[in-house]
Amino acid sequence: MKISQIKYKIEKSIDIRGVVGSFLYALKVLKKKVLMIHPTKRKALEKMRQEDFELDKTYGLDTAAIVSTDNFNTDSENLKYATQYQPISWIDFEKLLAPYNINYNTTSFVDLGSGKGRSLFLAASLPFKRIIGVEFDKNLVAIAEKNIQEFKKYNIKAKYIETICQDAAKYQFPETDLLIFMYNPFDKPVMEKVIESVIKFYDQHTNSIMIVYFNPVYGNLWKKQHFLNVLKDESNLQIYATKQS
Ligand SMILES: C[S@@+](CC[C@H](N)C(=O)[O-])C[C@H]1O[C@@H](n2cnc3c(N)ncnc32)[C@H](O)[C@@H]1O
Repeated sequence: MKISQIKYKIEKSIDIRGVVGSFLYALKVLKKKVLMIHPTKRKALEKMRQEDFELDKTYGLDTAAIVSTDNFNTDSENLKYATQYQPISWIDFEKLLAPYNINYNTTSFVDLGSGKGRSLFLAASLPFKRIIGVEFDKNLVAIAEKNIQEFKKYNIKAKYIETICQDAAKYQFPETDLLIFMYNPFDKPVMEKVIESVIKFYDQHTNSIMIVYFNPVYGNLWKKQHFLNVLKDESNLQIYATKQS
């Protein structure tokens, strides 16, 4: 890792956690790394990774392998704010979203930072009006397109699925009800741009908006938005929705 990248990581951590919080966080990460050397822990992690690849094989997909930002292929000035490609775990969207009153026929599922498209596959088991992946890395988009062709062979409920090669900071949402999905895709400067476009959408349209944010590093930015209700507030997942929905 370059010195400038280390400097940026430290500044970012202080921004999110404060100086003392960053120190405690660094200790926690170190402890985790030391524990990982423990053979039982390491074996459990390896088993999880293997199962991830096996599920890909079962469905004929290519979503499991992590891609570091050093290998990204994008001209975006926001590359420095991106997290690496890492797929969301194989969550059951139907179960996750069951407590909420979602009208799937009128709602677009939009994954900001969709990578190889695993979330699109998982969402396709529900009858969303549209499923859209927004990803700025050209290679990941090409892989996602192949994955979509593959999973369209299954008996999925969503009809319209696409992946768009675009920076999430510049993306304009379709004029439908929205479920915006994010799995810790980018840092504060891009998240702030996304929040600006969601506010603009809210001001201009009456459609409902739901935010499903996994590993919500910048959840505090969403919590400040008074047009949103907090429906779930856990360390690994936050869900927000506009008051009328
Ligand atoms: C942690 S991965 C999540 C992948 C996918 N959402 C999933 O759940 O399987 C984050 C993704 O966000 C993408 N990303 C980061 N910054 C972005 C930006 N400004 N615009 C579009 N995509 C971005 C990265 O390329 C990466 O694929």
